[in-house]
Amino acid sequence: MNRLPGRTVLIAGAAGGQGRAGAVLFAREGARLALTDVDEAGLGETVDEVLAEVPDAQVLARRVDLRNLPEIAAFVAETEARFDGVIDVLYNNAGVNHLDAIENVTPDDWDRVYDINLKSAFFLVKYALPALRRSRAASVVNVSSGAGLLAPVDGNGVYCASKGGLISLTRAQARDLAPDGIRVNCLLPGPIETPMVRGFFAAMPEEERVAAEQHVVGRSLFTRFGRPEEVASMAVYLATDEASYVTSAIIPVDAGWTAV
Ligand SMILES: NC(=O)c1ccc[n+]([C@@H]2O[C@H](COP(=O)([O-])OP(=O)(O)OC[C@H]3O[C@@H](n4cnc5c(N)ncnc54)[C@H](O)[C@@H]3O)[C@@H](O)[C@H]2O)c1
Repeated sequence: MNRLPGRTVLIAGAAGGQGRAGAVLFAREGARLALTDVDEAGLGETVDEVLAEVPDAQVLARRVDLRNLPEIAAFVAETEARFDGVIDVLYNNAGVNHLDAIENVTPDDWDRVYDINLKSAFFLVKYALPALRRSRAASVVNVSSGAGLLAPVDGNGVYCASKGGLISLTRAQARDLAPDGIRVNCLLPGPIETPMVRGFFAAMPEEERVAAEQHVVGRSLFTRFGRPEEVASMAVYLATDEASYVTSAIIPVDAGWTAV
Protein backbone atom coordinates (compact mmCIF):
# COMPACT_ATOMS: atom_id res chain seq x y z
CA MET A 1 0.00 0.00 0.00
CA ASN A 2 1.13 3.53 -0.86
CA ARG A 3 4.17 2.37 -2.82
CA LEU A 4 3.57 4.94 -5.60
CA PRO A 5 2.54 8.15 -3.82
CA GLY A 6 1.90 10.98 -6.26
CA ARG A 7 3.21 9.03 -9.25
CA THR A 8 1.26 9.41 -12.47
CA VAL A 9 0.09 6.22 -14.14
CA LEU A 10 -1.41 6.26 -17.63
CA ILE A 11 -3.52 3.17 -18.33
CA ALA A 12 -4.61 2.43 -21.91
CA GLY A 13 -7.54 0.02 -22.02
CA ALA A 14 -8.94 0.96 -18.60
CA ALA A 15 -12.66 0.28 -19.19
CA GLY A 16 -12.76 -3.27 -17.86
CA GLY A 17 -10.90 -6.45 -17.09
CA GLN A 18 -7.25 -6.11 -16.22
CA GLY A 19 -7.12 -2.36 -16.93
CA ARG A 20 -9.90 -1.62 -14.43
CA ALA A 21 -8.29 -3.89 -11.84
CA GLY A 22 -5.02 -2.02 -12.46
CA ALA A 23 -6.70 1.36 -11.95
CA VAL A 24 -7.97 0.29 -8.53
CA LEU A 25 -4.66 -1.28 -7.47
CA PHE A 26 -2.57 1.71 -8.65
CA ALA A 27 -4.94 4.11 -6.84
CA ARG A 28 -4.53 2.10 -3.63
CA GLU A 29 -0.78 2.68 -3.96
CA GLY A 30 -1.36 6.44 -3.97
CA ALA A 31 -0.87 6.95 -7.72
CA ARG A 32 -2.60 9.63 -9.80
CA LEU A 33 -4.47 8.09 -12.72
CA ALA A 34 -4.83 9.02 -16.39
CA LEU A 35 -7.30 6.48 -17.75
CA THR A 36 -8.32 5.95 -21.33
CA ASP A 37 -10.37 3.56 -23.43
CA VAL A 38 -12.64 3.62 -26.46
CA ASP A 39 -15.49 2.34 -24.24
CA GLU A 40 -16.66 5.51 -22.50
CA ALA A 41 -19.34 3.86 -20.37
CA GLY A 42 -16.90 1.23 -19.10
CA LEU A 43 -14.38 3.95 -18.38
CA GLY A 44 -16.96 5.77 -16.25
CA GLU A 45 -17.60 2.58 -14.28
CA THR A 46 -13.86 2.25 -13.68
CA VAL A 47 -13.71 5.81 -12.33
CA ASP A 48 -16.66 5.06 -10.03
CA GLU A 49 -14.96 1.91 -8.77
CA VAL A 50 -11.69 3.74 -8.11
CA LEU A 51 -13.41 6.59 -6.25
CA ALA A 52 -15.54 4.17 -4.22
CA GLU A 53 -12.36 2.61 -2.96
CA VAL A 54 -10.03 5.62 -2.84
CA PRO A 55 -12.30 8.68 -2.53
CA ASP A 56 -9.48 11.22 -2.76
CA ALA A 57 -7.85 9.61 -5.84
CA GLN A 58 -6.89 12.05 -8.59
CA VAL A 59 -8.32 10.69 -11.83
CA LEU A 60 -8.32 11.98 -15.39
CA ALA A 61 -10.45 9.86 -17.75
CA ARG A 62 -10.96 10.42 -21.46
CA ARG A 63 -12.34 8.38 -24.34
CA VAL A 64 -9.59 7.73 -26.88
CA ASP A 65 -9.66 5.41 -29.86
CA LEU A 66 -6.12 4.05 -29.87
CA ARG A 67 -6.33 3.66 -33.65
CA ASN A 68 -6.32 7.44 -33.86
CA LEU A 69 -2.78 8.70 -33.26
CA PRO A 70 -3.70 12.41 -32.87
CA GLU A 71 -6.17 11.38 -30.12
CA ILE A 72 -3.36 9.52 -28.34
CA ALA A 73 -1.06 12.54 -28.60
CA ALA A 74 -3.81 14.85 -27.28
CA PHE A 75 -4.48 12.57 -24.30
CA VAL A 76 -0.79 12.44 -23.42
CA ALA A 77 -0.67 16.26 -23.62
CA GLU A 78 -3.75 16.54 -21.38
CA THR A 79 -2.19 14.14 -18.88
CA GLU A 80 0.99 16.23 -18.80
CA ALA A 81 -1.01 19.43 -18.33
CA ARG A 82 -3.01 17.91 -15.46
CA PHE A 83 -0.16 16.14 -13.67
CA ASP A 84 2.84 18.50 -13.69
CA GLY A 85 4.34 17.32 -16.99
CA VAL A 86 5.39 13.94 -15.63
CA ILE A 87 4.28 10.42 -16.53
CA ASP A 88 5.87 7.78 -14.30
CA VAL A 89 4.12 4.67 -15.54
CA LEU A 90 2.67 3.72 -18.89
CA TYR A 91 0.48 0.61 -18.67
CA ASN A 92 -0.18 -0.47 -22.26
CA ASN A 93 -3.02 -2.84 -21.54
CA ALA A 94 -5.50 -2.34 -24.41
CA GLY A 95 -5.98 -5.20 -26.81
CA VAL A 96 -8.43 -7.02 -29.03
CA ASN A 97 -8.55 -10.70 -29.89
CA HIS A 98 -9.23 -11.99 -33.37
CA LEU A 99 -10.28 -15.47 -34.41
CA ASP A 100 -10.94 -16.53 -37.98
CA ALA A 101 -9.72 -18.93 -40.61
CA ILE A 102 -6.88 -17.54 -42.72
CA GLU A 103 -9.03 -17.35 -45.84
CA ASN A 104 -11.52 -15.06 -44.07
CA VAL A 105 -9.04 -12.55 -42.65
CA THR A 106 -9.21 -9.19 -44.43
CA PRO A 107 -6.55 -6.47 -44.60
CA ASP A 108 -8.86 -4.37 -42.39
CA ASP A 109 -8.92 -7.14 -39.74
CA TRP A 110 -5.12 -7.22 -39.78
CA ASP A 111 -4.81 -3.43 -39.51
CA ARG A 112 -7.36 -3.17 -36.69
CA VAL A 113 -5.65 -5.79 -34.51
CA TYR A 114 -2.17 -4.45 -35.24
CA ASP A 115 -3.18 -0.81 -34.69
CA ILE A 116 -4.66 -1.54 -31.25
CA ASN A 117 -2.33 -4.28 -29.99
CA LEU A 118 1.03 -3.08 -31.31
CA LYS A 119 1.11 0.28 -33.09
CA SER A 120 -0.61 2.14 -30.24
CA ALA A 121 1.93 0.73 -27.76
CA PHE A 122 4.79 2.14 -29.83
CA PHE A 123 3.22 5.57 -30.33
CA LEU A 124 2.08 5.91 -26.73
CA VAL A 125 5.72 5.59 -25.71
CA LYS A 126 6.83 7.97 -28.45
CA TYR A 127 4.35 10.69 -27.44
CA ALA A 128 4.88 10.16 -23.71
CA LEU A 129 8.68 10.11 -23.94
CA PRO A 130 9.32 13.71 -22.79
CA ALA A 131 7.02 13.17 -19.79
CA LEU A 132 8.57 9.77 -19.01
CA ARG A 133 12.03 11.37 -19.13
CA ARG A 134 10.91 13.91 -16.51
CA SER A 135 10.11 11.07 -14.08
CA ARG A 136 12.79 10.03 -11.65
CA ALA A 137 11.87 6.34 -12.07
CA ALA A 138 9.77 5.72 -15.16
CA SER A 139 8.50 2.38 -16.30
CA VAL A 140 6.47 1.00 -19.19
CA VAL A 141 4.43 -2.18 -18.77
CA ASN A 142 3.19 -3.78 -21.97
CA VAL A 143 0.50 -6.47 -21.92
CA SER A 144 1.18 -9.18 -24.46
CA SER A 145 -0.22 -12.71 -24.05
CA GLY A 146 0.78 -16.32 -23.80
CA ALA A 147 -0.43 -16.27 -27.40
CA GLY A 148 2.63 -14.14 -28.18
CA LEU A 149 4.70 -17.29 -27.60
CA LEU A 150 2.31 -20.10 -28.49
CA ALA A 151 -0.49 -20.78 -30.96
CA PRO A 152 -3.10 -21.86 -28.39
CA VAL A 153 -6.22 -22.10 -30.58
CA ASP A 154 -7.09 -22.33 -34.27
CA GLY A 155 -7.48 -19.19 -36.36
CA ASN A 156 -5.57 -16.90 -33.98
CA GLY A 157 -2.73 -15.87 -36.32
CA VAL A 158 -3.26 -12.10 -36.42
CA TYR A 159 -3.58 -11.86 -32.62
CA CYS A 160 -0.60 -14.17 -32.00
CA ALA A 161 1.59 -12.17 -34.41
CA SER A 162 0.61 -8.83 -32.87
CA LYS A 163 1.32 -10.10 -29.35
CA GLY A 164 4.63 -11.64 -30.45
CA GLY A 165 5.50 -8.24 -31.91
CA LEU A 166 4.81 -6.63 -28.56
CA ILE A 167 7.36 -8.92 -26.93
CA SER A 168 9.99 -7.83 -29.48
CA LEU A 169 8.99 -4.19 -29.09
CA THR A 170 9.46 -4.49 -25.32
CA ARG A 171 13.02 -5.72 -25.71
CA ALA A 172 13.89 -3.07 -28.31
CA GLN A 173 12.41 -0.23 -26.25
CA ALA A 174 14.05 -1.51 -23.06
CA ARG A 175 17.36 -1.20 -24.90
CA ASP A 176 16.60 2.22 -26.39
CA LEU A 177 15.31 3.72 -23.15
CA ALA A 178 17.80 2.25 -20.66
CA PRO A 179 20.08 5.29 -20.98
CA ASP A 180 17.15 7.41 -19.75
CA GLY A 181 16.57 5.07 -16.80
CA ILE A 182 13.18 4.07 -18.23
CA ARG A 183 12.40 0.40 -17.65
CA VAL A 184 10.23 -1.50 -20.15
CA ASN A 185 8.70 -4.87 -19.29
CA CYS A 186 6.03 -7.13 -20.67
CA LEU A 187 3.36 -9.34 -19.10
CA LEU A 188 2.06 -12.51 -20.71
CA PRO A 189 -1.31 -13.25 -19.12
CA GLY A 190 -2.72 -16.73 -19.37
CA PRO A 191 -6.51 -17.24 -19.45
CA ILE A 192 -7.95 -14.45 -17.30
CA GLU A 193 -11.63 -14.06 -16.48
CA THR A 194 -12.41 -10.76 -18.25
CA PRO A 195 -14.94 -9.40 -20.79
CA MET A 196 -12.53 -10.38 -23.59
CA VAL A 197 -12.50 -14.03 -22.54
CA ARG A 198 -16.21 -14.11 -21.76
CA GLY A 199 -16.88 -12.78 -25.29
CA PHE A 200 -14.48 -15.31 -26.80
CA PHE A 201 -16.36 -18.28 -25.30
CA ALA A 202 -19.83 -16.75 -25.63
CA ALA A 203 -19.39 -16.65 -29.41
CA MET A 204 -19.14 -20.46 -29.53
CA PRO A 205 -21.98 -22.99 -29.77
CA GLU A 206 -22.71 -24.58 -26.34
CA GLU A 207 -21.20 -28.02 -27.09
CA GLU A 208 -18.00 -26.46 -28.45
CA ARG A 209 -17.77 -23.98 -25.59
CA VAL A 210 -17.46 -26.56 -22.81
CA ALA A 211 -14.66 -28.43 -24.58
CA ALA A 212 -12.87 -25.19 -25.50
CA GLU A 213 -13.00 -23.90 -21.93
CA GLN A 214 -11.67 -27.20 -20.63
CA HIS A 215 -8.88 -27.11 -23.22
CA VAL A 216 -7.84 -23.55 -22.33
CA VAL A 217 -8.16 -23.85 -18.55
CA GLY A 218 -6.67 -27.36 -18.60
CA ARG A 219 -3.29 -25.85 -19.49
CA SER A 220 -3.30 -23.84 -16.27
CA LEU A 221 -1.56 -25.81 -13.51
CA PHE A 222 -4.28 -24.47 -11.19
CA THR A 223 -7.03 -25.50 -13.68
CA ARG A 224 -8.84 -22.23 -13.26
CA PHE A 225 -9.02 -18.83 -14.93
CA GLY A 226 -6.85 -16.12 -13.45
CA ARG A 227 -8.41 -13.04 -11.94
CA PRO A 228 -7.74 -9.59 -13.47
CA GLU A 229 -6.09 -8.35 -10.28
CA GLU A 230 -3.65 -11.27 -10.36
CA VAL A 231 -2.18 -9.76 -13.53
CA ALA A 232 -2.56 -6.11 -12.54
CA SER A 233 -0.69 -6.69 -9.28
CA MET A 234 2.36 -7.73 -11.31
CA ALA A 235 2.06 -4.50 -13.32
CA VAL A 236 2.02 -2.57 -10.04
CA TYR A 237 5.11 -4.41 -8.80
CA LEU A 238 6.96 -3.64 -12.05
CA ALA A 239 6.10 0.04 -11.64
CA THR A 240 7.52 0.27 -8.11
CA ASP A 241 11.10 0.89 -7.09
CA GLU A 242 11.19 -2.73 -5.84
CA ALA A 243 11.64 -3.67 -9.52
CA SER A 244 14.45 -1.18 -10.12
CA TYR A 245 16.73 -3.84 -11.70
CA VAL A 246 14.00 -5.33 -13.89
CA THR A 247 13.87 -4.29 -17.52
CA SER A 248 13.21 -6.12 -20.81
CA ALA A 249 11.60 -8.91 -18.75
CA ILE A 250 8.93 -11.02 -20.42
CA ILE A 251 6.86 -12.33 -17.51
CA PRO A 252 4.15 -14.97 -17.77
CA VAL A 253 1.29 -14.54 -15.31
CA ASP A 254 -0.42 -17.75 -16.26
CA ALA A 255 -0.11 -20.56 -13.65
CA GLY A 256 2.25 -22.42 -15.93
CA TRP A 257 0.09 -22.10 -19.05
CA THR A 258 3.10 -21.44 -21.31
CA ALA A 259 5.33 -23.94 -19.51
CA VAL A 260 3.46 -27.21 -20.01
N1 LIG B 1 -8.21 -12.11 -20.72
C1 LIG B 1 -7.26 -12.92 -21.12
O1 LIG B 1 -7.36 -14.15 -20.96
C2 LIG B 1 -6.01 -12.40 -21.76
C3 LIG B 1 -4.98 -13.30 -21.98
C4 LIG B 1 -3.81 -12.82 -22.54
C5 LIG B 1 -3.67 -11.48 -22.83
N2 LIG B 1 -4.69 -10.62 -22.60
C6 LIG B 1 -4.47 -9.20 -22.90
O2 LIG B 1 -4.75 -8.45 -21.74
C7 LIG B 1 -5.13 -7.14 -22.11
C8 LIG B 1 -6.37 -6.75 -21.35
O3 LIG B 1 -7.44 -7.52 -21.80
P1 LIG B 1 -8.67 -7.98 -20.89
O4 LIG B 1 -8.62 -9.45 -20.83
O5 LIG B 1 -8.70 -7.20 -19.63
O6 LIG B 1 -9.90 -7.66 -21.84
P2 LIG B 1 -10.80 -6.38 -21.99
O7 LIG B 1 -11.52 -6.55 -23.27
O8 LIG B 1 -11.59 -6.17 -20.75
O9 LIG B 1 -9.76 -5.16 -22.08
C9 LIG B 1 -9.26 -4.63 -23.27
C10 LIG B 1 -9.59 -3.15 -23.31
O10 LIG B 1 -9.04 -2.59 -24.51
C11 LIG B 1 -9.99 -1.65 -24.97
N3 LIG B 1 -9.84 -1.32 -26.38
C12 LIG B 1 -10.11 -2.13 -27.44
N4 LIG B 1 -9.96 -1.44 -28.58
C13 LIG B 1 -9.60 -0.17 -28.25
C14 LIG B 1 -9.32 0.99 -29.00
N5 LIG B 1 -9.40 1.04 -30.33
N6 LIG B 1 -8.99 2.12 -28.32
C15 LIG B 1 -8.94 2.12 -26.97
N7 LIG B 1 -9.20 1.04 -26.21
C16 LIG B 1 -9.53 -0.09 -26.84
C17 LIG B 1 -11.33 -2.32 -24.72
O11 LIG B 1 -12.41 -1.40 -24.78
C18 LIG B 1 -11.12 -2.93 -23.35
O12 LIG B 1 -11.53 -2.08 -22.30
C19 LIG B 1 -5.30 -7.16 -23.63
O13 LIG B 1 -4.15 -6.60 -24.25
C20 LIG B 1 -5.40 -8.64 -23.95
O14 LIG B 1 -4.96 -8.93 -25.26
C21 LIG B 1 -5.87 -11.05 -22.06
